[in-house]
Amino acid sequence: MDKVAVVTGAAGGMGRAIVSQLLTDGYHVVGLDVDAASLKGMATDGFDGIVTDLMDAASINDAFSEIQARYQGVDALVNNAGTCFMSEFPDIPAAEFEKQMALNFSGAFHCCQAAIKLMKGRDGVRKIVNISSNGAYNFDAFDPPHYRASKAALDTLTKDLARRYATEKIAVNSIAPAMTETPLFDVVSKEVLAKAISQMPHGRAMQPAEIAAWVGFLISPAGDVSSGNVIILNQGRDVR
Ligand SMILES: NC(=O)c1ccc[n+]([C@@H]2O[C@H](COP(=O)([O-])OP(=O)(O)OC[C@H]3O[C@@H](n4cnc5c(N)ncnc54)[C@H](O)[C@@H]3O)[C@@H](O)[C@H]2O)c1
Repeated sequence: MDKVAVVTGAAGGMGRAIVSQLLTDGYHVVGLDVDAASLKGMATDGFDGIVTDLMDAASINDAFSEIQARYQGVDALVNNAGTCFMSEFPDIPAAEFEKQMALNFSGAFHCCQAAIKLMKGRDGVRKIVNISSNGAYNFDAFDPPHYRASKAALDTLTKDLARRYATEKIAVNSIAPAMTETPLFDVVSKEVLAKAISQMPHGRAMQPAEIAAWVGFLISPAGDVSSGNVIILNQGRDVR
């Protein structure tokens, strides 16, 4: 039986690239996403989609019960689902704040709780990779504060779980990318987008496959000795 990797937000720009990387690396990949039609369209050998609302803890628990029934365990989890709601402080509606935290942080939190239970007894070093954002660390770019805070919370979860599960051989890391060309670019105006891309040192946005390669590296045996790290991917933009 192939090792099993769960990827959240599998139908999005970054999610598809991560799914593709892990399939190439020989994993059986289970994609969780709310977009049922896109998951269906991704059907291929080695990939299963489970329609899941990652803003809903009960839906997450149902998905992992299904994973347990189908595969009896999980070897890797990639918490990739996320979005960036763009209202500005101090006029961010309470409901938008709750949704931002629910998808970017709480969803990942609940997936970690469910997946870690299913990692028990699996061989080797099991992996969790949380997709954070440069927005938690770079305060020059456009990101609004609830987005930044949701990713900072995610990175603190990374460090807690890395410490908590080190001797049980569960390695937990974050990858924090900057501008990466996905449908998420649509949340900002053309002008804001052009300015942010022009600030990238290579003069271009990064591609989802470039981020997915790092996810694949962390999940590969080479990543066994890394835990508790937040890996910034931004072409060197913020080095001071
Ligand atoms: N694109 C970038 O420049 C960039 C930069 C830094 C960090 N990130 C992070 O990368 C991750 C992936 O983003 P992306 O750029 O691929 O965005 P995307 O919008 O292309 O994909 C997001 C995916 O999440 C899914 N989703 C949304 N709400 C959901 C819900 N309630 N339940 C289940 N699934 C849901 C969507 O259906 C979609 O498939 C996010 O966490 C994002 O914050 C992206």
